[in-house]
Amino acid sequence: MSKLTVNTRPVQFDMDPDTPLLWALRDAANLTGTKYGCGEGDCGACMVIVDGEALRSCLITIAEAEGRFVTTIEGLSRDRSHPVQQALVAEQAIQCGFCTPGIALSAAALLARNPDPGEQEIRDAIPNICRCGVYPRLIRAVQRAGRVIRREERISAAPAPGISAEDAARAVPAMAPSAPAEGE
Ligand code: FES
Ligand code: FES
Repeated sequence: MSKLTVNTRPVQFDMDPDTPLLWALRDAANLTGTKYGCGEGDCGACMVIVDGEALRSCLITIAEAEGRFVTTIEGLSRDRSHPVQQALVAEQAIQCGFCTPGIALSAAALLARNPDPGEQEIRDAIPNICRCGVYPRLIRAVQRAGRVIRREERISAAPAPGISAEDAARAVPAMAPSAPAEGE
């Protein structure tokens, strides 16, 4: 039994202690925002924050995570209002989005230590691989999130998931009244 704190809640994993934290989070805790990419520590898709440090959850066992405080993307904010999430959206630094949770956590851990990092520091602290190549926008987004954290800028919160009633109405073209059938 491995006991740890995940997103401020105490959690017990009754699993093989050698189970990678990634699989315990995804399969046992249903926290599927933590992504599996390579399973070998290369891609960063599985990044979580452990005791303030961004770590690849595919490389840590639940035994190694025992007693530690883990934050996943689900715990970064409940409504995508963390400055990193706001800035990633505002700078359009998301394409397919597969790498985004890991990137957001790497960036959040960096900005918690240093809210005004230089470009090279951002590159060094965010080793995540993005197959869509959002890197230039990512740098801008992290710098912008830093300005939000330093209270030099505000970004209104990203819209909640889902489609607003207004957008839904736009997506469905108004039906033209059908012509009466011959003979009617
Ligand atoms: S899945 Fe962990 S680094 Fe790629
Ligand atoms: S946005 Fe597609 S992998 Fe990064």
